[in-house]
Amino acid sequence: MSNAKLIIENQTLELPIISGSENEKAIDITQLRSTTGYITMDPGYGNTGSCVSDITFIDGEKGILQYRGFPIEELTKGTFFTDVAHLLIYGNMDESEEKAEFKREIKKHANIHEDMKRFFDGFPLSAHPMAILSSMVTALSAFNPDSESHEPELIDLNIAKLIAKVKTIAAYSYRKSQGLPFLYPDPDLNYVDNFLHMMFSDSQEEYQQNPVMSEVLNLLLILHADHEQNCSTSTVRMTGSSHANLYATISAGIAALWGPRHGGANQAVIEMLEMIKADGGDYQKYVNLAKDKNSDFRMMGFGHRVYKNYDPRASVIKDAASRVLKAFEIDDPLLEIAQNLERIALEDEYFVERKLYPNVDFYSGIIYRAMGIPTNMFTVMFALGRLPGWLAHWREMILDPSSRINRPRQIYVGETKRSL
Ligand code: CMC
Repeated sequence: MSNAKLIIENQTLELPIISGSENEKAIDITQLRSTTGYITMDPGYGNTGSCVSDITFIDGEKGILQYRGFPIEELTKGTFFTDVAHLLIYGNMDESEEKAEFKREIKKHANIHEDMKRFFDGFPLSAHPMAILSSMVTALSAFNPDSESHEPELIDLNIAKLIAKVKTIAAYSYRKSQGLPFLYPDPDLNYVDNFLHMMFSDSQEEYQQNPVMSEVLNLLLILHADHEQNCSTSTVRMTGSSHANLYATISAGIAALWGPRHGGANQAVIEMLEMIKADGGDYQKYVNLAKDKNSDFRMMGFGHRVYKNYDPRASVIKDAASRVLKAFEIDDPLLEIAQNLERIALEDEYFVERKLYPNVDFYSGIIYRAMGIPTNMFTVMFALGRLPGWLAHWREMILDPSSRINRPRQIYVGETKRSL
């Protein structure tokens, strides 16, 4: 292992260099403060590694995303979302009794406690489904007090319960907003079809599977399933590091995802495209507004902390969006507006210089709309996809005996000691 040398006030400190399996490099500063009294300053954590992890690899310069070594482009060709969830959480794709049990547990725990259904009554019809989702996931901790345990069997059980129940809660939050009755999950359906059944089935008619809907939803969930130390996953690690129970910890991740700079961007993109359409489709005006430093307006669905190249998820979603609209024979004017905005922005010096490309949220909303999912449910769909990633990172942290409570430091710049 090589070292880096840091010279502070004529004192030379040797700091170990850590290398990742894809040749990423970090300077290990764990002894910095105790040896020198200094801390590092990195607002927004753009240069800070908070952990080592073997779950997901991203090369933002090259536009590479891999789960446990498998490129995302391969995983989106014919793999089931629950297999990808298992891969992320347990590290393998092999067909095994342990994986079969994981899938059985997800089916078995798909119902929520009957008493929880009454909680939905307390929300106004206008409630944002993310508000319902985060509240309900926290409420699950009241029904699962063993979720504070770090016994491996209980960890696995609560992981399966969460994957099973979050989709039911997500579907019920939609049914609530539409004034529709809640439908029980159907154990004969796979994860994706079960969700679509609870969302869209008529209680008086048998559920009719739509293969295009199932395929595209499966694809979207896989594309969202993990993205290493993003804001919500870091929140899950942060909250979980205090040993808060698993349900409360995931609820914290859901809250972080809701923001428009993160998962809430998928809703914000469609609202932006609607606004541009209502304004006569003047793309250049909005590109100019996004560049104007006196305006708060940002091109939603553009830019990324890590990707300085086309987001590989956006390429897959862009193709899928055209395919789905064609299959459903939908002519959505928002797709054309999005394509034109992208074209103009990618030729614009401002976007080129800053390496701002469409991200995962730019085209996903067009697909959700075509599926009949309302705009305020889009971030819930993101949460459904991201859940296995949150769980994988939480489990990795909890089972690591060296993990400590996450507690950054600060530089205080307020008043020095004074008297009243
Ligand atoms: N429109 C216009 N300008 C932008 C945009 C944008 N969407 N994104 C970044 N910039 C500019 C920014 O103003 C800054 O310019 P300057 O150097 O002149 O000050 C420069 O690009 C760097 O931006 P930053 O804010 O320092 O970048 P960041 O890494 O802190 O933020 C981001 C990343 C995703 C929050 C930001 O690009 C953004 O707000 N994008 C729009 C919201 C969005 O689409 N979010 C979804 C992210 S992908 C899904 C997910 O992981 O949640």
